[in-house]
This record gives sequence, structure tokens and C-alpha cells, in this order.
Amino acid sequence: MSWAEIYPWRAPQPGGPVIRQVYDQVRAAIHEGALKPGGRLPSSRDLALRLGVARASVVAAYDQLLAEGYAEGRKGSGTYVCGDLSGVIDLPAGPPPAETPVTSGAGIEASMGFVDLQSATVAFSNGRTLMDARALDAWSRSTRRALRTLGPADFGYGDPAGALRLRGAVADYLRAARGVVCAPDQVILTSGAQQAVDLTLRVLLRPGDKVWLEDPGYQPTWYAASAAGARTFGVPVDRSGLVVSAGVAMAPDARLAFLTPSHQYPLGVALSMGRRLELVAWAREAGAWILEDDYAAEFRYAGAPLPALQGLKGGDRVIYVGTLNKALFPGLRLGYLVAPRELVGPLTATRRMVDRQPPTLTQAITLDFIESGQFAAHIRRRRIAYKAQRDALADALERRLGHALEVDVPDQGMHLIAYFRDGRSDVEAEAAAHACGVTARAIAPLYHAAPPRAGLLLGFTGFPASAMDAGVARLAGALGA
Ligand SMILES: Cc1ncc(COP(=O)(O)O)c(C=O)c1O
Repeated sequence: MSWAEIYPWRAPQPGGPVIRQVYDQVRAAIHEGALKPGGRLPSSRDLALRLGVARASVVAAYDQLLAEGYAEGRKGSGTYVCGDLSGVIDLPAGPPPAETPVTSGAGIEASMGFVDLQSATVAFSNGRTLMDARALDAWSRSTRRALRTLGPADFGYGDPAGALRLRGAVADYLRAARGVVCAPDQVILTSGAQQAVDLTLRVLLRPGDKVWLEDPGYQPTWYAASAAGARTFGVPVDRSGLVVSAGVAMAPDARLAFLTPSHQYPLGVALSMGRRLELVAWAREAGAWILEDDYAAEFRYAGAPLPALQGLKGGDRVIYVGTLNKALFPGLRLGYLVAPRELVGPLTATRRMVDRQPPTLTQAITLDFIESGQFAAHIRRRRIAYKAQRDALADALERRLGHALEVDVPDQGMHLIAYFRDGRSDVEAEAAAHACGVTARAIAPLYHAAPPRAGLLLGFTGFPASAMDAGVARLAGALGA
């Protein structure tokens, strides 16, 4: 690979020796690192044309560089920057040392640990997914078809809310699968649930507004609420989900409540119907908004799923958020929100300000994948596979670590929690596991005001059932249990 084609070559200054000026430019580009070892230099004819000099001057400058070891000729294929420059220049050292973490005005650390934990490729990193061979095959067919059907309009700018046909497909899916009541124009495509949450908080909150957040809860939402200048109130969570009465006692006049009703993050409980009705009634009375993050709705393993809050009577106070990044793969970066009509304009305008629009090619591929029936088939297969993975993990934990850990097996979602039976620190356990090559996220740091419970969050969707026992054996070794 060579950047010589687009390097800003300058015509020589009149008066000075031309060969010397050409030589100096190429040499400087090599010293700056703009032209890398082994990269192809422009042909002498091409460079002469670009510089407006005689070809012989470039040939003479190249001869000098060849003689000094900066360049090397390859028979029949031109002149290259020498592959080994160690004898002629001091190559730049490796990456600069890590800087002190940058802290934004809202107190968000740039080096947030969860990023590493979620991006790790080792068991039991959370949020990972598995695409089987059939899905990958179908995805590449969708990619080829999408590329064939993209027209000139698709290569330009598009609707910041996303392509209407894909928004329509998402609306159909949500109506059928989640009981969400919406029309295609209420769907705004985003890069994921995280961007949907951030946009909503930016649009609805003014500095000082009160916000309910789940305690324990999803850290990035806490960061996004702080960045929006909100006053955050951690509302405790019990076996029935968010304790609505506690929220009302703390901040009855909150402007917004954020929650993960179908699979509370991190504890995995579902919000009971009683609590749902209580929450919707409070929002109506207080004139508050509910931000429903349905991030793992696809993966229900037992019993009928509780439909989305948004579909309940009174759901017109709900902004519904979901993602295709969990249903397919996190690197996809495609999610959505469903907004009450009066918020569609401001949310679309904000999305445009932040990120202009979703990528057209990704949208076209995903639309084809959905319309060809592959999306529904993939979800059905994933449910079966993830349930087996969940069971394999729970079995291995029970067998190898049942004396030390109490495993809570959820009916839904992508991870489970294993609570320590004794008073052991989960933060120390996380570090010990990490040192042994296992990802096990401590949940105590996800608590704010509520009394923490020590446990490990273990993702099961990213690893085959056959890999679970080996991962748990390693975890047991790390814990010395
Ligand atoms: C509760 C919760 N919300 C949102 C997200 C972000 O999803 P996305 O990758 O679609 O931005 C995650 C990812 O793990 C999550 O756990």
C-alpha cells in the first residue's frame, strides 16, 4: 500500500536546482513517514508530470535515493521505498505512552473499563453474539443483492431517520414481536440502542432535570444522563424490577425514567405487570417520559414474553428503544427508537446534527436480510442455540462452583448473574479471572446508592455450549474454588 498517489507533491521553486528539489521532497516524505518502507513510488513519468519537470530530473533524483539506500528498484515493476530503512533513518518509535484519562465536563472517564470487558473475545464477555454459517451465507447473499440494487441516490445523503422501507420493516417486526404500536414514520434508525438513548436524553432533558435510573444499572446511560446535565436518582430494583414507589418517593417530579423492563440490566429480572401499570400511571400524572430500553428483547427462552411497555394503554409517554446489534452482531451498528409523534421532529433533527444519517449500504443489506425472511429464521435459531448455551453455562457453574456461587438463570437475555455465597469481593474476583484469561464482570460497581450485592455477570451468547465447561474450569481456577 502506498500513499504516494495522493501525496501533496509541490512543483520545484524557480531558480533552485530541480533534481535536488525533487530528491529533497521524496526524502522528506520518507522521513516524515508519509511514504512507508516497501511502498511504491510514483513512476518517473507520472511524478515528472505532476511536478511539471523533465522526466530525466526525476530519474536522476531517484538514482540518488537508490544510491543512498532510501529506495530500491524491482525489476519490471518500478521504484519502491526501501523495505528496511534502519540504516538510513531513525524510524518513529511505537505508539506513544498512554495518557492520563481525559475527563469531560460531565465527569465521564474516557477509559471506561466496560469497553474492554464487552469487546473481549474470551468467555464470558457480555453482549457478544454468534452468527452461524447459514446466517453468514444469507448475509453475503443480501450484501450482493443490495450492492446490485443500490442506485445513484443511495450513494448521496439520505433521510437522517433512515430509509423509509427499512423503518417500515422494523415497525412490522416490532408490532408482531413486541406489541409496539407504531407507524413507519415514528421509527428513527440509529447506530444502536446506545445512540437512541443518548439522542433521547439530549432532546428531552434540560440541565438540572431529574431522571430516574435503575440502581444497579447500565453505566453508559448514567454517563449519558450526566452528560446531559441531569440530576440522577438511582431507583432500586427488586425481583419485580424497578421499585416505582421508591422513585415516586425520591423524585415525584422527574422528567424521565430510564429502564430495561424486559430484562433488567444487569440483574436480569422482568418488570411485573403491576409495576408497569404503576409506572405508566405515574408518567401520565407527572407529565414525565419513560425511556424503555428493550436491548435484548429477541431472546426469550421460557414462557410468553411480556410485551413492550410502549404498547400498553398510556404508552404514548414512552420512547421505545431497540437494537439490531444484539439480534445480529454488535459491529453492525444499527438500532432504532420509536417516538411519540411530537418527538419525531426534534429527535430526527438531533440525529442529523450528531451523525447525519445511517449508512445506506448497511441499511440496504439489512432490509434484504429481513425481507427475505432470514432475520426471523436467524432469531428462531439463535433462541434455541442461546438457550442451550445458557444451560451449559449454568450446569458447569453448578457442577464446578455451586458451593461458592448461587446462579440465577434468567428466562431472557444474553447473560446470567452468579452471586457469591460468602462475602467475597467481586471486583477482586473480576481481576483474578482477567489474569487467567476469563471475562467475568463484577456487578457491585454497577450499584450507586442501593446496597450492593457481590456477583459476576457472565455472558453466554457469544460462546458455543461446548466451550462453557472449559471457561468455567478456568474461572474456578482463578477463584481458587
Ligand atoms: C442495557 C443496554 N442498553 C444498550 C446497549 C447498547 O446496545 P447497542 O450496541 O445497540 O448500542 C447495551 C449493550 O450491551 C445494553 O446492555
